[in-house]
Amino acid sequence: MNLLIAGSYDEMSKLAAKRVASLIRSKPKAVLGLPTGSTPLGLYKELVAMYQDKVLSFKDITTFNLDEYEGLDCDNVNSYYRFMSDNFFNHVDINRKHTNIPMGKSEDFLKYCIEYEEKIKNSGGIDLMILGIGNNGHIGFNEPSEYFPGITHRVKLHKETIKANSRFFSCVEGVPRYAITMGIRSIMHSRSIMLLANGPGKAEAIKKAIREPITPKVPASVLQLHQDLTVIIDEEAASLLDD
Ligand code: F6R
Repeated sequence: MNLLIAGSYDEMSKLAAKRVASLIRSKPKAVLGLPTGSTPLGLYKELVAMYQDKVLSFKDITTFNLDEYEGLDCDNVNSYYRFMSDNFFNHVDINRKHTNIPMGKSEDFLKYCIEYEEKIKNSGGIDLMILGIGNNGHIGFNEPSEYFPGITHRVKLHKETIKANSRFFSCVEGVPRYAITMGIRSIMHSRSIMLLANGPGKAEAIKKAIREPITPKVPASVLQLHQDLTVIIDEEAASLLDD
């Protein structure tokens, strides 16, 4: 594991953007796994700036988002589809046909999830999976559990997640109770993984994820087994790490 502790959120975002840019420069058709949430906002801003400065192009990359709330239409302001358009895709030269986000509405979620996995496989697999981490140690929407869920699946969100994410909704009741998420196996099959975290609220989750025994009760802890994991966190998120 490669651990980088940045002095600030901005520095964390810049380090992460540098890593993404260097991958795309060496492999213009790279396949990225992408998160939503507060953590990657700075990274997306940096990537958009690189595009505007004409030092990076996204035209040949393919992306797969980690997750989506169930039941929200694409244009719903809280959907991850909308998040990605507003914060990244609409501002760069990416081919929208090569962007994939799990659909929040489906007649048959089981079939849909298998198709999403197939699509990832047919793209050649994910070169770089970018992850945030939940306060409860979740990655994607793989919540603490008794086992590590495998492939893309429908999941019931935990109370802490609903509460944490209610900051984006007008009230906690408005937060969907279910989501579609890539599974732990889908994430672990990526050729490389970059985990980002910032702020004191993530310190406990980071400590449990990278310094304590691997357990499905802290889904991010499984990342310790990945052969190419980079963890980029700010000093606050690193504050409970001993060395
Ligand atoms: C979102 C996702 C989640 C978030 C996590 C942290 O696509 O996969 O696992 O990364 O909930 O969210 P923020 O960054 O808002 O603290």
